[in-house]
Formats: sequence, C-alpha cells, structure tokens
Amino acid sequence: MHTIIEAVKQKYESSDLKTPEFVVCFSDLVSNDFNTLFRSLPPDRSYKAAAVAGDFHGRLLLPSSVHFTYCSWSLHWLTEVPKAAEGLMSVWHGGDERKEVYDAYLEQFERDMESFLKCRAVEMVEGGVMALLIPSLPAYWDPQKEYTVGSLADLLRSSLLDMAKKGKLSKEKSETFNIPYHVPTPGEVRAILQKSNSFSLERMDSLKSGTLLNVDGHVAFFRAAHQNLLTYEFGAETIDETFDLFKKKLQASPVYADPSNDRSLVVVAILKRNNTGALLNVDGHVAFVRAAPQNMLAHEFGAEIIDETFDLLKKKLHTSPIYANPSNDRTLVVVAILKRSNV
Ligand SMILES: C[S@@+](CC[C@H](N)C(=O)[O-])C[C@H]1O[C@@H](n2cnc3c(N)ncnc32)[C@H](O)[C@@H]1O
Repeated sequence: MHTIIEAVKQKYESSDLKTPEFVVCFSDLVSNDFNTLFRSLPPDRSYKAAAVAGDFHGRLLLPSSVHFTYCSWSLHWLTEVPKAAEGLMSVWHGGDERKEVYDAYLEQFERDMESFLKCRAVEMVEGGVMALLIPSLPAYWDPQKEYTVGSLADLLRSSLLDMAKKGKLSKEKSETFNIPYHVPTPGEVRAILQKSNSFSLERMDSLKSGTLLNVDGHVAFFRAAHQNLLTYEFGAETIDETFDLFKKKLQASPVYADPSNDRSLVVVAILKRNNTGALLNVDGHVAFVRAAPQNMLAHEFGAEIIDETFDLLKKKLHTSPIYANPSNDRTLVVVAILKRSNV
C-alpha cells in the first residue's frame, strides 16, 4: 500500500492539485482475521485504514467510490469446482488433464473474472485504475528440467493418492478431489480482460514469479495455501503426513532443488475504468460530430460539401491511433444541480 500511495502522491506533487487524503479499504473473505491485519499495519502509515469482508465476486463497496483497486494472487481461486469436473479423476495443472475438464475450469475462471470485473466497474470511478497480479503458467515447460506451480500442485495430488494407498484417506475421495483454482496462461488472462466493456487493458506483462523458494519454502507455501481446504476435505489428522510425503517427493527430484528452474509466471495487468459517457469508435465520432453541425455547414458552404468534409474528418481520425480507443477520450461533462434560494 505504501508503494502505491507514494506513487499517487508523487503524481499530485508534480501537478498543481492539492494532495488528497487516502483511505485504504482492505478486503477478504469473512473468515479472514482482520484484527491481525489491522495490528500489522505500520503505525506511521499515510492513509486511513478500513476493511470490508465478503466475496469479491459480489459488490463490496458503494458505487463510484474507488479510485484505485489492487488485487494480488487471489483471482485464480474459483467460486466452485466446475460442474463438468465433479466426480471425475482430479485435474491438476501440469498433469495428465483431459481437455473437456480443462475447458470447464477455464470457463469457470472466465465467469468468475467477469463477475469480479462487473462489480468493480460499479464501484470504481470513471478513469480509475486497477492493478491485478495473477499467478500464471507458461503454455509449455520441460518437466525433466523445469517446474511450475502446476508441477507442485501435481506432486501434492500424488501425495494425496499415496495417502489413500496407505489407507489414510478414502481412495475414491482422493481420486476425485479437485481444487477450486485455475492458474491461467497469460494468453487466457489477456483474452478475458480484453473482452471487458467497462475496463480498457492499458498494460499487461508476464513476469517470472520470482519466489526463489527452496524445498522447505515450497512446502510452507503450499501448506499455507491448501491446509484449510485439505483439513475440511480429509481431516486435520492427515495434514502433517500429506505434507511430509509432499516434501519427500520434492527432495527426490533434483529439479526442485534449484529455484532458477521455476518457470511459474505472474501476470501483471493494469486496467482503466472506461468513461461510460461517449465510448465512441471512429464511426461513432463521425456520426456524432456530423449530427450536430451538418445543417449549419450546409447553410454556410452548401449541402454538396458535407459528405466529402466528413469523409476527410473520418480519414483524419483513422490516421491517429488515439481515436481508436474510447478510453483515451478526456472530454468531460459538467453536471450542475442548482436550488432556487429563499429570498
Ligand atoms: C494467496 S492469498 C493472497 C494474499 C495477498 N493478496 C497477497 O498478495 O499476499 C489469497 C487471498 O485471497 C482471498 N480470497 C480468495 N477468494 C476470495 C474471494 N472470492 N473473495 C475475497 N477474497 C478471496 C483469500 O482469502 C486469501 O486471503
């Protein structure tokens, strides 16, 4: 938060505008320990802190009240295991997944992203900026020499299957258990974000995820992310042994010993809330501009010049990329509400 607020402050300080006060509204599921969150905030922070608990696939805040949204390492969690995957053998990234199940996961991810974007579109002001960090997988990696968060998930699945073989978990349950997340490829993220009518994708990069974890680090990271879910599904008494097996599997392969073999990615996407006003493309601009002064121009210069004048206008709009993207439109509309005073 400090980094984001300092960047916004610098923008204000280099302009004539007065730097505003900042309020940060932290959000997580109701099960989150918000007391620990507030206790861990730096006392000398330059913002007021508030929190709202709830599912981010629904509305959390008032309409047009948010100027900047930041969501990190969370959007890969799905609202549910897709129906098409239920009751089938597990599908985990990096494993021998079947296409129809993979597609069902991707479709669920898309539906969930759409509901997230739809709610944020209501809450954010026009021109507001959103930064998303989403864990991601490359379309291909060499499992003999490299690994990703997908390969790690596959080893966790194999640990659960081993637990079932030892009679510590139900065989059927461990074979059909699916985790409700989809770690997308950068291409999948881009395609979904570009479909949004409410946000324009200003920038997207896929970076090396850079966790630089050794084997113990991977075990701690995976345990933190999966422990609650596995406890709910298989019981608390299974957790230590499952993660001991997981650790042994990581130690058995030289691939995981070297963090530079990690090909996991993180997608960083910067989006801007569109102006809902005009949202015109080039043809829309020509129609809009023609509708207003056409009569006046015909009166002044003759009706015969109208078509050619607006053809020239259209060509000029087409020669500059600025007009192709409606989110570049900085035109404003002033709304003024007046009340007749008592005399
Ligand atoms: C891996 S943690 C990331 C935490 C933090 N954003 C970061 O980058 O370090 C994922 C967080 O997303 C939250 N989360 C997952 N699904 C959510 C949802 N549908 N609504 C709100 N929060 C959700 C989880 O509760 C968890 O705190």
